[in-house]
Amino acid sequence: MGVLTCDKIMFVLGLFCLIMINHAFVTYSSPTGSLSGRAAHDHHFHVRKLQEFKSNFFPRELVSLSSSSSSSPSPSPSSPARSSTGVYSVIKYGADPTGKTDSTDAILAAISDAVSVDGDGFLMQGITNLGGVRISLEGGIYSISRPLKLPVAGRGNIVIFGGTLKASDNFTTDSYLLDLSSSSSSPNSDYTYEFVTLRDLMLDCNFMGGGIRVVDALRTSIDNCYIAHFTTTGILVQRGHETYIRNSFLGQHITAGGDPNERNFSGTAIDLQGNDNAITDVVIFSAQVGIMISGQANMITGVHCYNKAYGFGGTGIYLKVPGITQTRIVNSYFDYTGIVAEDPVQLHVSDCFFLGDAFVLLKSVRGVVDGINIVNNMFSGSNKGVDIVQLDQTDKEFDEIGQVVVDDNTVNGMNTKATAARGVTRVNGTSWTIDFNEILLFPRRIKSVQHSLMTDASNTFPRTILRNISNNQVFIESDMTVEGSSSVTVDQGLTISS
Ligand SMILES: *[C@@H]1O[C@H](CO)[C@@H](O)[C@H](O)[C@H]1NC(C)=O
Ligand SMILES: *[C@@H]1O[C@H](CO)[C@@H](O)[C@H](O)[C@H]1NC(C)=O
Ligand SMILES: *[C@@H]1O[C@H](CO)[C@@H](O)[C@H](O)[C@H]1NC(C)=O
Ligand SMILES: *[C@@H]1O[C@H](CO)[C@@H](O)[C@H](O)[C@H]1NC(C)=O
Repeated sequence: MGVLTCDKIMFVLGLFCLIMINHAFVTYSSPTGSLSGRAAHDHHFHVRKLQEFKSNFFPRELVSLSSSSSSSPSPSPSSPARSSTGVYSVIKYGADPTGKTDSTDAILAAISDAVSVDGDGFLMQGITNLGGVRISLEGGIYSISRPLKLPVAGRGNIVIFGGTLKASDNFTTDSYLLDLSSSSSSPNSDYTYEFVTLRDLMLDCNFMGGGIRVVDALRTSIDNCYIAHFTTTGILVQRGHETYIRNSFLGQHITAGGDPNERNFSGTAIDLQGNDNAITDVVIFSAQVGIMISGQANMITGVHCYNKAYGFGGTGIYLKVPGITQTRIVNSYFDYTGIVAEDPVQLHVSDCFFLGDAFVLLKSVRGVVDGINIVNNMFSGSNKGVDIVQLDQTDKEFDEIGQVVVDDNTVNGMNTKATAARGVTRVNGTSWTIDFNEILLFPRRIKSVQHSLMTDASNTFPRTILRNISNNQVFIESDMTVEGSSSVTVDQGLTISS
């Protein structure tokens, strides 16, 4: 303890380099959607339509809520809904809040005007601060036939909120209802958008594509959203930093569990292909994979996955970051579906509840597992003999095993697996064996042993020796016949050896 060996120093330096890499720009191949430019919109037509609509359905007070400030100047003809309040109400641009007619052009026009305001100074260099302009969906349901994209990159401090977007039957498949991406990168910036908030939205993908895509954006909030009927992905995050997904509900099919078609659930609810994101207090109620992670330093907390049972081929959280995982999963609820981690290096799973024989699977790709804490979780199963933590070594055996701690989990109706274990056995003779195979996670691997002997006889002082620890069995011999009990503690973790 306390002595830094050369190995340790190298390890610390290595770790430092890995952390540095986190903030570097990583390139992925991404599907390039076409940027819907600032199309020609017939605002006047939409305004006329809207006025008819308003007078038919809404009392005056209701429609003018968002621009109720009496000092608002009347909107200019070129921007029918531009208001001094910074709130852009899509109905004023001709969007149909009943969802009967297509509102794509109207909402795109509102977005286009909102992001064209002058702004004030800069967020990150190259990103204009729009001051918190709001695109209000005014509690309507809007039919959309193309992705809603911002027409320009390099904008920040924008809120889109308060309504339902529904993909129409001719919605372009393989794209996303709300698409925060840009084919033209913003000048002087690695990032396209900063501090965009998508809040209080229901997205019905109508089995045509995905919900939200966020590419190269910085500090994005997705808050209180309900995303359903996606075929591909509910929320896709590519590169960028700090997309925070909070208080949201995602499911391919709208169900409350025990769905007769659960076997057919497909798609991925959240796909994080970037670093430093957080998913907090999110329920995933239907999808093949709840959360797919292929970036580092992501934080998952308060997530409830009942997307598709493991028995039907579902996965709650899939960590596809072999060799450099750096993921924390805490305080979450795995409901008949578990966690899969490929070659995990630095993975922390704690304070989670695994129900219905759900378990953690460590899958070997190149045989590396290191820096793992799976501690202080609750597991509950149905006495079918399912191990709480399992190894998939079909492709390769784990042969680079570092610091792995699986311990202090409470287990009911499943098999406990751990990397440290204690055993006590009655002794009567000159040798005895305690077999730890049932509990130890890794086969043929005991790194350290402590043992002690208590004899029934009051005046003997037997000498004992640890003879053999191969094959996860501890074999102890004594120099005389003893009657008593032997207690043994074993550990599969890292030890200092010199
Ligand atoms: C999709 O259908 C709507 C009518 O339902 C129509 O207004 C819109 O132009 C169509 N869009 C495309 C891209 O075909
Ligand atoms: C589910 O999938 C199976 C086989 O893939 C198919 O036979 C069945 O019709 C599907 N059920 C539904 C409701 O789509
Ligand atoms: C211990 O072993 C001896 C000889 O095998 C036997 O006579 C004795 O009863 C055993 N003691 C206990 C407590 O089982
Ligand atoms: C340890 O026990 C195993 C069988 O469990 C045996 O094959 C091996 O030779 C033993 N090693 C020593 C050093 O006694």
